[in-house]
Amino acid sequence: MLQFEATAPATDWCRDCQRSGETVGLVPTMGALHEGHLSLVRLAKQKCDRVAVTIFVNPTQFAPDEDLARYPRTIDKDLSRLQQLGVDAVFMPETSTMYPDGFGSFVEPGPIAKKLEGEARPEHFRGVTTIVTKLFHVLPADVAVFGQKDYQQWKVIEAMVRDLHFSIELVAAAIVRETDGLAMSSRNAYLSHSERHRALSLYRTLQETKQRVRSGIQETSTLQKLMRSDLSNCDAVDYAVIVDRDSLQPITLVNQPAVVLIAARVGRTRLIDNLVLLPADSAS
Ligand code: PAJ
Repeated sequence: MLQFEATAPATDWCRDCQRSGETVGLVPTMGALHEGHLSLVRLAKQKCDRVAVTIFVNPTQFAPDEDLARYPRTIDKDLSRLQQLGVDAVFMPETSTMYPDGFGSFVEPGPIAKKLEGEARPEHFRGVTTIVTKLFHVLPADVAVFGQKDYQQWKVIEAMVRDLHFSIELVAAAIVRETDGLAMSSRNAYLSHSERHRALSLYRTLQETKQRVRSGIQETSTLQKLMRSDLSNCDAVDYAVIVDRDSLQPITLVNQPAVVLIAARVGRTRLIDNLVLLPADSAS
């Protein structure tokens, strides 16, 4: 497995693969890899001849009061897991490589980035679109795989790729969960034993909501009120909403493809989870 810290050799590798007729799949990550990340790698391997993974804890997507310094870093373990999976190349730059002195250009995401996560974390998606653009330039792959775990991030990147004519195919991967339903996340490592237990209420709330829709409740105002009460053992709820699956605009009735989105804090840890509701989930 090739390991690159500098940009030029990574770009050369990607172009060499493509020149010899191979397709390249890209999986951007911030490391501390778990089964969720590895499922993206497996999907990229199915779709492409070669797979590159990036590991970079991107400072521009963290607010000053967020967990950048304590974000989990497990690089040796990450590399051995990627090697076992047969990944071809890993790009793991220093911060100074991606953001050298004098860096000052950013990619401004569209309106879909302003709501929900964008309200709770105003600069977050600008950091994500900027780093993803840079990674797409360093590794000009044919396909990039992102997880639906970060549903709004996926939609923001999809809009950016469309709006700015990136010639890369995006592939979305389903959420990978622990056996009890908790969505896998690098941030789960912060949870104490009792917080881990309380964190399950996000998944339970999603499942309850799906059942309620199945049993015939369609009004999002009613469903959202019930979600808030389901989440009462979280320490704070940033949002618990049902919105249009594509635009993320509020809807009044669940009679179209929709997505349930939750962001809540358990202790000091902020968790997000979501569930797509298809018309087949409705009683009617
Ligand atoms: P990170 O949180 O490391 O996630 C990397 C990728 O793994 C994202 O596409 C995310 O949606 C996906 N992922 C995380 N947990 C998952 C799960 N349980 N099931 C399925 N996929 C999961 O997202 C980022 O990093 C960054 O914002 C990044 C895109 C790398 C830009 O810095």
